Order: sequence, then C-alpha cells, then structure tokens
Amino acid sequence: MRKVKLFKPFVSWHAVWNTVKVLRSGQLAEGPRVKEFEEKFGQRFGLSNVLAVNSGTTALELAYELAGISKGDEVITPVLTCTATNIPLARRGANIVFADIERDLNISVEDVKKKTTPQTRAIVFVHFGGNNRGLRELIDFAREKNIILIEDAAQAVVSDFWGKADFTCVSLQAIKTLTSGDGGILVCKDNALYDKGKRLRWFGYDREKKQKFGDTDLVEAGYKYHMNDVSAAIGLGNFKVFDKIAAHHKDLMKAYQEGGIAAYPWFAFVLTDKRDALKEYLKKYGIDSGMHHYRNDQYTIFGGRKKFSMMDELENKYLLLPLHMGVSVADARKICKLVHNFNEVPKSN
Ligand SMILES: Cc1ncc(COP(=O)(O)O)c(C=O)c1O
Repeated sequence: MRKVKLFKPFVSWHAVWNTVKVLRSGQLAEGPRVKEFEEKFGQRFGLSNVLAVNSGTTALELAYELAGISKGDEVITPVLTCTATNIPLARRGANIVFADIERDLNISVEDVKKKTTPQTRAIVFVHFGGNNRGLRELIDFAREKNIILIEDAAQAVVSDFWGKADFTCVSLQAIKTLTSGDGGILVCKDNALYDKGKRLRWFGYDREKKQKFGDTDLVEAGYKYHMNDVSAAIGLGNFKVFDKIAAHHKDLMKAYQEGGIAAYPWFAFVLTDKRDALKEYLKKYGIDSGMHHYRNDQYTIFGGRKKFSMMDELENKYLLLPLHMGVSVADARKICKLVHNFNEVPKSN
C-alpha cells in the first residue's frame, strides 16, 4: 500500500550535488554560497535586506532583539502556532498576550485589536500553514497604532502575499517547503537594523571587515546565528527547482479545495468531531495525519491555559493533512474521497 507521511523533506538532486561540491571545497563555514543564497532568495521574492541564519527560530530571536523587545514588553501573538514563534519571547521575558484564532486556524484580527493597549510593543502574525488571511489588515492596524509588526513566515514561501512587515522570518527547516536542512531567513525593512542584524548574527562583529582587516573591537554582544555554506548549498540546490515545488504545492491546494477540504500552501486540514477515529481510518489507507502544532497557552512556560472562544471550540477538532512534494494530486483527491466517505465527517469550513 502506498504510504503518505504528514510531512516529508524534499531534497533535489541539485541540492545533493551542490552539497558534495561544498563538502569537498574546503569552505564549509559562512562564505560565498551564503551570499549567493541571500541574493537569489531576495531576487526571487522581491525582498531586500535578506539575512541567512541557522534556523527560523534564530531569525525570530534576532527579529525580537532588533525590535527591542525586552522584559515586560507586551507582544500579541497567536495562541495556535509552532512553539518556536513564542519561545524566544518567553526567554526575553516579554509579556506574551495570546490572541484567539478564527475557523481557518489563523489569528483573529478582531481579537488582536481588542487586546491592543498603549503598552503593546509588537504584534506577531503567523502564516499558519502558509495562510496569509489577516496580514493586510494587521499591516494597516500596526501602522496606524505605531506598533511593530513581525511576520512569522516559516510556512509561507509559496504564499502570494508575505514579507511585508517590519521583520519577516522564514524557516528552512527539514520539512519546510524550501529546506536547507536547517536554516532561516530574516528580512528587515529598516536598513540600519539590517546592518545591526548582520553583525548580531555573528557575535557582533562586522564579518567582512574582520576577515579583510583582522581583529576588530566588539561593541555589541551578538549570537552565533549565521548560516554556513553547507546549508546554503542545500538551499541553493532546492531553490533551482523552487518554481516546480511552488507549482506542485499550488496544484495540491487546488485538488484539496476542489474536493471540499480547506488547504493552504503547507498543509490541508479538516475540522471533525471524530478526530481520533478519522486519523485511524486514514491510517488504514496509508495516510498520515495529525495536529503537529498545539495551543501554546497549554505550556507552563507560557503561563498556563486561558479561555479563547474559537481555540476552545477547535482544540479537539482540527486535523492536518499532508501537502508536500511526496504527495501526488491523485493522493490529494483520494484523501478528499476518504474524508468524505468517513462517517459523518462535517465539512471543514
Ligand atoms: C510557524 C513556525 N515558526 C517558527 C518555526 C521555527 O523554525 P525552525 O524550526 O527553522 O527553527 C517553525 C518551524 O519549525 C514554524 O512552523
């Protein structure tokens, strides 16, 4: 029986070959491949001030640092997301204010507006599954209120609207649409903050200056968050076929949507009262499904469970379905049929 995993890394042959070349080149650390990757990434998505880092989480960590978020600062962020969105906020002692979600699992803009106070320093918009619903409205809202907007675009590279906020963070982790093994991209709107981010990702040094002229003084304490040439080689190799990847993800989205199932560029999902039973049923046909991300307020580090009308309602109902390069359009159609054949599974939305 053909098996379809919920997520699966995609590595092109270009990536394999590129990596072999870099491994044999004597240049494994950050070098020309990282620069090339940043340039190509920026060109492809029409973005400037692109910084390659070693994970989506470190891109977020740097964004929060550059946004000046420190102890006690109020930050509004979605309750349903990868914990990596919020762990760096907890680490810096920010006052995390969770916003509820809507039926499409993305943040509720209405709840963000309700929870905004004069103390709100930043809002984090997560493209959950690559869904950009809410971003346009939050850009206008944040501008009007003079609040920093940070996009967690970890799952969004196939979306048609992203990279518009003050800071945008992308993940290139193993199962993401575009992978470099592990890696991330930080895009900064502000030129000075981009320069600062470039220094902070490598201890606080101006790397080019130090490599050219020798040791320089350190005036800022930074991190070791830079990408290396091995990761960049994987990313560049996969980037060669990015148009194909994006087209396939869009074909799968279309197949799911035509089959009555909600789908975004990175996953499809259903809402069902019989989640465990549906999961088991799909498994019998070789189809993997799952929740993957959970409401963040349930974790002790984020202060414990609170009440959210939609999150409370959907908590035991959402089930993610596979949408990646290891899924064929025929698989997606079969999954739609299976979901609809499953007894009394209500339509997702
Ligand atoms: C929404 C979201 N934010 C942040 C991250 C963190 O990215 P990384 O695993 O590259 O650190 C991920 C993925 O893991 C994610 O899905």
